[in-house]
Amino acid sequence: MVLFNVSRVETTPFGDQKPGTSGLRKKVKVFKQPNYLQNFVQATFNALTPQKVRGATLVVSGDGRYFSKDAIQFGMYWAVDGYRGLRFTIKIITKMAAGNGVRRVWVGQNGLLSTPAVSAAIRERVGLDVSKQLVFGSKATGAFILTASHNPGGPNEDFGIKYNMENGGPAPEGITDKIYENTKTIKEYLTADLPDVDITAIGVTSFCGPEGYFDVEVFDSASDYVKLMKSIFDFESIRKLLSSPKFTFCYDALHGVAGAYAKRIFVEELGAQESSLLNCVPKEDFGGGHPDPNLTYAKELVACMGLGKSNPEVEPPEFGAAADGDADRNMILGKRFFVTPSDSVAIIAANAVEAIPYFSAGLKGVARSMPTSAALDVVAKNLNLKFFEVPTGWKFFGNLMDAGLCSVCGEESFGTGSDHIREKDGIWAVLAWLSILAYKNRENLDGGKLVTVEDIVRNHWATYGRHYYTRYDYENVDAGAAKELMACLVKLQSSLAEVNEIVSGIQSDVSKVVHADEFEYKDPVDGSISKHQGIRYLFEDGSRLVFRLSGTGSEGATIRLYIEQYEKDPSKTGRDSQDALAPLVAVALGLSKMQEFTGRSAPTVIT
Ligand code: G6P
Ligand code: ZN
Repeated sequence: MVLFNVSRVETTPFGDQKPGTSGLRKKVKVFKQPNYLQNFVQATFNALTPQKVRGATLVVSGDGRYFSKDAIQFGMYWAVDGYRGLRFTIKIITKMAAGNGVRRVWVGQNGLLSTPAVSAAIRERVGLDVSKQLVFGSKATGAFILTASHNPGGPNEDFGIKYNMENGGPAPEGITDKIYENTKTIKEYLTADLPDVDITAIGVTSFCGPEGYFDVEVFDSASDYVKLMKSIFDFESIRKLLSSPKFTFCYDALHGVAGAYAKRIFVEELGAQESSLLNCVPKEDFGGGHPDPNLTYAKELVACMGLGKSNPEVEPPEFGAAADGDADRNMILGKRFFVTPSDSVAIIAANAVEAIPYFSAGLKGVARSMPTSAALDVVAKNLNLKFFEVPTGWKFFGNLMDAGLCSVCGEESFGTGSDHIREKDGIWAVLAWLSILAYKNRENLDGGKLVTVEDIVRNHWATYGRHYYTRYDYENVDAGAAKELMACLVKLQSSLAEVNEIVSGIQSDVSKVVHADEFEYKDPVDGSISKHQGIRYLFEDGSRLVFRLSGTGSEGATIRLYIEQYEKDPSKTGRDSQDALAPLVAVALGLSKMQEFTGRSAPTVIT
C-alpha cells in the first residue's frame, strides 16, 4: 500500500472564476495560469463543505479536450498518446481530492466520459473494490466534468470545468454562487503527494493517507452507459431497422467524446455499418472544428445528408445525427431535411409511450426552456400532460425530474433528454428517433414504403400545427454594446403602444405585440426565483420574439435572437421557414437596432 501526505499550498484569488450557464469556461491560456484550476477545485470543495467532501466518491473525467501542452513536462507518461491535457487535469484534481479527504475517485478509461455518461455514473454504476470484487449499485457524491461542451478546443481555444451533484445534474445556483464567492477569497488549497495512476488501464489503485484509504478506479467509458441505454430502448427493433437495406444511417461525433460511444452502440450493438460513422475518433482539438451540432458547424454531415452544398449524384442516407464535444447535444436530420430541436422534443414526447419501452407506463410530464418553441406545449395540451416552461439551462429540469414531475424535456439549443439521468443526452436522442422510426416502420421493413424522418415531422405538423422557428446568433459581440442593446429592449417594454408603432412601421403585416416582459421563473419544487432570463415580445397570433445573452461563451458576448410563428392551417405548414419568418426577422432586427448596436449586418450562425 502506497502512503501519501497532504500539504497546504498557498494561493491568491483570481477575479474571473464566476461559473456560467454550465460551469467555468475560459481560454486554455487562462486555465494555464499557475493555480487557476486548483483554486476553482478547492473553492468547489469548500462550497460543498468539508463534511460532505470527506468520504465522498467523485467522478472525474471529460470530453478529451486540450488543456496545456506544458502538461508534457510533468513526465513522459503524459505524452505517450493524446488526451495529455485531460490527464494532467485529472491528476491535479485526483491529488486535491485525496488531500481533501475524498474516499475514492472514478475515472473513465483515458479520462474520457461523455457528460451524460458522467451523470449516469453518479446515479448508479457497478464499481470495483480493491480486490476487484464488484460492488453493486454504487452511487457517487458528485463529479468534476472537464469540458467546454460545444466550444472549440486546442491551445488557443476553450477548456472548462463544472461540478455535478449527487442527483447527477449540474450544481444549482446556490452552490455555484458559493463557489464564486470562495474563489474571491481563497488563500490555500490541499493536495496529496500521490504517485501517478495509469488511467489508460482499467482497475483500482489504492493508497493510504492521514485520513485513511483513497482509491482511484479506472473504468470502461462506455459499458455502464450502454447497459443503461439497453434498459431504456428496444435494441432488437432498432437493430432490425438499422440492418434493413432500406434504411441508411450516418452519425457524426465531430471528433468529440461521442465517438467513444458511437462505435459500441451503433456498430457493435445495433449493427450499423462502420462506414456510417463520421469523425468518431475523439481528438483534443476536435480536428480543428467547432464541435457544435448545427447546420453551420456540422458541415460534413450536412453535406452528406443532401443539405447545403452537396453532390446531387449521391443519394443521402435516410437518417443523420451529430453530437457536440461532450455528447450531450444532438442534431437530427432526415434525407435533405432538418428537424428543429424544438420540433424534435415535441415529436419524441408525442411518440414516446408507443415507441420507447422506458415510457410505456406514460409520461409524468414534459418541459422545455423558455426560448424553445411552443411545439411541445401543443403536444402536452393534446395529450393532457403536465407541462413546464423553465429558464435556459438543464439544471432547471433536474428539480422537476427529482420531484417526479417530468419525463421528457428539451431545449432549442440542441439538447434533448429524459429523467433517466440529469443531463441532456445526445446519444439517447438519436436512439429515441431510431425507436420512433423503428416503430413507425415495424410493418414496412420487409415490404412497403419506408416512413421517413420527413414524413414523421410533416405528419406531426398536420396534427399539431407547425411552429416556424429560427435562431440568429451574433457571436463575440462587444460586451458593452450587447448590454446596451438588451437594456434598450427592456426599456421599450414599458410602452406597448410605442412598440407597436415601431413594429407596424417596419412591417405592416405582422400581428400586434400584446405582452412584453423579462422572463422570470419560480421553481415549483423549491420555490427559488430566477430573474432576467430573457426578453420576450409576445404577439397576438402566438408569434414570439425572444432576446437573450448567451451564458456559455468565453469571450465577448453572444446575442441570441429567437423567432417563432405558429401556423395551425395544415395547408400552410410546408413553407420554407426563413421565408415564412422573414417579416418577423425584420421586426426583430429593427426593434433591437441590431446593426446600430453591434455593427453586424448579419448573424454569425443561423439555425
Ligand atoms: C448549455 C446548457 C443548456 C443550455 C445552453 C444554453 O449547453 O447545458 O442547458 O441550453 O448551454 O447556452 P447559451 O449559450 O444560450 O447560454
Ligand atoms: Zn455539451
